[in-house]
Amino acid sequence: MLLYFHDQQDAAEKLAEAADMPAACIDSHRFPDGELKLRLPAQVPQRVVLYRSLDNPNEKMVELLLAAQTARVLGARHLTLVAPYMAYMRQDMAFTPGEAISQRIVGQFLSTIVNAIITVDPHLHRVATMQELVPGASAVVLTGAEILSDLIVQRRERPMLIGPDAESRQWIAQAAKRHGLDFAVCTKVRSGDHAVQVALPPVDVAGRAVVILDDIASTGQTVAAAARLLRAADAASIDAAVTHALFAPQAMERMRAAGVGEVWSTDCIAHPSNCVSMAPLLAEALRQIERQSGG
Ligand code: R5P
Repeated sequence: MLLYFHDQQDAAEKLAEAADMPAACIDSHRFPDGELKLRLPAQVPQRVVLYRSLDNPNEKMVELLLAAQTARVLGARHLTLVAPYMAYMRQDMAFTPGEAISQRIVGQFLSTIVNAIITVDPHLHRVATMQELVPGASAVVLTGAEILSDLIVQRRERPMLIGPDAESRQWIAQAAKRHGLDFAVCTKVRSGDHAVQVALPPVDVAGRAVVILDDIASTGQTVAAAARLLRAADAASIDAAVTHALFAPQAMERMRAAGVGEVWSTDCIAHPSNCVSMAPLLAEALRQIERQSGG
């Protein structure tokens, strides 16, 4: 049985259909003081999948804790978390002494409440694999880069992919390889939430249909900084494709003002820019977990 929360009903139901599983919505009530009360179906089977993408994670991790423990009390023996967006992955070291290494703490927390985790393009930079972050659970990592690449070649002639920073190389390389596309990667220095400096790589983008591809857009500053340079370098068109459409307020306006035409994203995070569904790949990952765990 797949359990989901009301605000992610569309993506969860698509996954339930692709995986051929029954699905039920977890009922959630918020008390006047802000606390939550959850209600799951009165009986759950031995194998339960919790669908919770972890954008706006602070609340959602408490929900997950309550839901996972309740599912166990109601009879679940094996819990799989499908979190297409995995939160807190960018804080992967103490950049100044005393900072919490959130990536590690969140990974450990999740691995104590579920048996398996499926996620998409987690922002792994200084850590090689998701499995290292969730020692007590099994991890399956998928990518949105290839299905975004499929979409890009349908929408643009002879596109060139540009990654806005070094971390994006892993996704750009996969997306480019799938359709034999030209690609290059910028360098970026971030000095604050809204302060980024990007430098273009030495490639000729004049007259090319350029697509900036990244795992995440949040403030949109990274995409906007790259777009301004591409516009100045006479790119014929500039579009953006991201796996995770976090999009803080003003992000879309900021990117458009910098010259970005279309914005395409996967449905890992529900957003009007969603163009491709992760459901078929997530369903296959669920089958893989089932085989591995003898379900
Ligand atoms: C970081 O390296 C990520 O890959 C993204 O480039 C970053 O999170 C985008 O953030 P923003 O949209 O706020 O510039």
